[in-house]
Amino acid sequence: MSRLPSGDLLPRIETAPPGPRARQLCRDLDSYEAPGINTLGLGKDTVVWEEALGSNVLDVDGNRYLDLTAGFGVAAVGHRHPLVVSAIRRQASKLVHGLGDVHAHPSRVQLARELCRRAPVDDARVYFAVSGSDAVEIALETACLATGKPGVLAFDPAYHGLTLGALQVTSREEFRQPFLPLFHSWVRRLPFGCPVETIAELIEGHPDIGCVLLEPMVGREGLIPAPTGWIPGISDLCRRRGIALIADEIFTGLGRTGSWFAVESDGVRPDLLCCGKALAGGLPIGAVLGRQQLMEAWRGGHEALHTATFVANPLSCAAALAVLEVLERQGLPDRAAGLGRVIAERSQGWSDLYEAVVEVRGLGLAWGIELSSAAYAQELREGMLGDGILALVGGPEGHVLQICPPLVITDRQLAFALDSIETHLRPKTSS
Ligand SMILES: Cc1ncc(COP(=O)(O)O)c(C=O)c1O
Repeated sequence: MSRLPSGDLLPRIETAPPGPRARQLCRDLDSYEAPGINTLGLGKDTVVWEEALGSNVLDVDGNRYLDLTAGFGVAAVGHRHPLVVSAIRRQASKLVHGLGDVHAHPSRVQLARELCRRAPVDDARVYFAVSGSDAVEIALETACLATGKPGVLAFDPAYHGLTLGALQVTSREEFRQPFLPLFHSWVRRLPFGCPVETIAELIEGHPDIGCVLLEPMVGREGLIPAPTGWIPGISDLCRRRGIALIADEIFTGLGRTGSWFAVESDGVRPDLLCCGKALAGGLPIGAVLGRQQLMEAWRGGHEALHTATFVANPLSCAAALAVLEVLERQGLPDRAAGLGRVIAERSQGWSDLYEAVVEVRGLGLAWGIELSSAAYAQELREGMLGDGILALVGGPEGHVLQICPPLVITDRQLAFALDSIETHLRPKTSS
């Protein structure tokens, strides 16, 4: 029986988090799980989630939180949206696992159609993935196959995932051979937002570069919107040079920044677009949407060159179809844009009023408060946790507090979160 009657509630703390049951479970986990894949190694017990609905999370000690993380940006339509849950139930009553790249199933066909219809990509085709990182690898491989050039231009900061090169230890030549050049990791980096002329010069000097990979707005590494005109400038450059533009919209896509895909607000149509996270409302899936002309590069072999056992999992596909429907029906990209304006207005002047606030920036429901140190960011995060608000810190030094709630967060919940932030920032003392 659920103890969360609805997902639009304000937080309620019963026991200072993490409570006794959470601490016990953390100790148990620490006894059995490898170090590194949980944050217990950092010496701190954490909150342990038991239930979630809408913008609320309930922990194992009965504390109710307001979730400003959206579960790493996954719960755009809210946790456990009823339409998503019933789509999963319906699908589960028929088929929970298909035969990957060998035998398809109807939900996969339907999702492929829907994604291609919505993609801001000319003549789009979809290549399904099992995660965000998997989608990034598929996009890089597509660019390598289609352009014949293995070089990649990426930016700093950027986060594109951590699953590098399982292929490098796989033995069969058929699978390895097409991507051998990538194994040398021909990645060059420029600062995010650097002048487009600098990018043009670098490309000029390195004819091996076949693609430019960018986040339309830096996510985990600090929530930094791209400068105005930057992405259109890069897009023009790529078109002129026959280089593939890959937009990693795993975090920004599906409404987060106030439009269906962030590149759309710039009128840009990338060659390849990666999505994941919010796509299946909490079930694992990723996808690359690419121009048909580039995707044709995969045609040929008798084996799929990039696939996985669980690719296009039926439950994930059914959930994703429901997520797309909810985003549209509830107008969530527009809602994110509207709430983004509320945050912009409310946070204006924070850097003048509060000690240690360097900058507040964002788009839609993806905002970052850059603080002058990681210690200040942790202090703010812990203060908010005491009020029942879950938030993450990001950025290369862990100095950016993130405001990335479900897009269904209510006006009242958002106001509560902003009040809490103001309470825990330290006012500047006049000297
Ligand atoms: C922009 C971006 N790309 C790729 C990834 C990797 O996705 P996953 O963790 O699903 O592999 C992430 C995850 O945070 C991301 O934010």
